[in-house]
Amino acid sequence: TAVNEDLATEILELKEQRNAVILAHNYQIPEIQDIADYVGDSLGLSHKAAEAEEDVIVFCGVHFMAETASIISPDKTVLIPDLDAGCSLADSITADQLREWKTQHPGAVVVSYVNTTAAVKAESDYCCTSSNAVGIVESIPEDKEILFLPDKFLGAYVEMITGRELNIWQGACHVHEKIGELNLAEKQKEYPDAEFLIHPECGCSTSCMMKSAMYFDCKDGHVHSTSGMLNRAKESDAEEFVVATETGILHRMRKDSPEKKFYAANEESVCDYMKMITMDNLRDALKHKQFEVKVPKELAEKAKVPIDRMLQVG
Ligand code: 13P
Ligand code: SF4
Repeated sequence: TAVNEDLATEILELKEQRNAVILAHNYQIPEIQDIADYVGDSLGLSHKAAEAEEDVIVFCGVHFMAETASIISPDKTVLIPDLDAGCSLADSITADQLREWKTQHPGAVVVSYVNTTAAVKAESDYCCTSSNAVGIVESIPEDKEILFLPDKFLGAYVEMITGRELNIWQGACHVHEKIGELNLAEKQKEYPDAEFLIHPECGCSTSCMMKSAMYFDCKDGHVHSTSGMLNRAKESDAEEFVVATETGILHRMRKDSPEKKFYAANEESVCDYMKMITMDNLRDALKHKQFEVKVPKELAEKAKVPIDRMLQVG
C-alpha cells in the first residue's frame, strides 16, 4: 500500500542520514526482511556486525543479538527498535546459576549458546551458534569436561553428532520445544514426499535424527541453523519441504524458490519477541536513535573472549 511504501522510503532516507546498516534475523516479519541490508542467522549476523563500516547498526532481532553486536563492535551505536524483544532461551539461565554450576564442576570448559545474556557469556569459555556448535565442541580436547548451556535439545543433538558426553543445562526455547515428534509424524503422513528441515532447538531434533527415515519414513531429514535451512531449501532437488522452526523463515524460502512448496511443521511456531520489531518502530529507532544497547566495558571485554572464539570456528 501507499502508506507502507512511504514508510519504507522514510526508513531508507533515515538510514542514509544516520549512516546506518539494518541487520535482520531470518524470523523477522517479511517487510523487515525486505528492507534489511542483510538477513541471516545468529552467526552470519555476528559476522556482519563485526564487518560493518557504518556508524550505526540497527538490529532487527532480539536483545541478546544486539548485545552481541555491541560487544563485537564497541565503537558503533547499536540500536534495537524494541527493548522488550527478549528470548525465553536466554532467560533460562542467569550468571549466578552458571557460577554455581561451575563450582560443582571445577576445571570444566563452558560452552554457551549465543542465546544468552552478556553476563552469562562473560562466565563462558566458548560461545557457539546452531551452525558451529558441533565444530566448537569438536575443537575442545577430549579429556576436558564440558558444560553446555542453556539449550537441552541443541545439547543432545551435539552429543549425538560428536559422540562426546556433555553436561547439559535443561533450558529450552518456548517456541521450538513445542515442535515435537507428533507434529512431524502428522506432517509426514500429509506430505510423504517432503524433505524435512529441522532446527536443532526443536524438541524433536534428536529423536528424529536417531529414528531417522525408519520412524518417520520421511524421504530425507536435515538439522540446520536457520540460514543452513535456507541454503538447503535452495540446493535440494526436493519439491516439497516441511520446515520445523519459527514460521518467519518461510518468507525467504518461498521468495528464493517460488516453484517449491514449503509447509510449517507447526503453524503456531511464532516467536512473539521476534515479531515485536515493526516498520513503525524501525523508523522510530532511526529517527530518534533509540534504543541503544550498550554493554558496560568491563563486562563486554570478558564476554568478547568466547564470542571471538565462536567467530573463529565457522
Ligand atoms: P539461528 O542462529 O539458527 O538463526 O537461530 C537463532 C534462534 O534464535 C533460533 O531460535
Ligand atoms: Fe529465543 Fe526461541 Fe525466539 Fe529464537 S525463537 S529468539 S530461541 S524465544
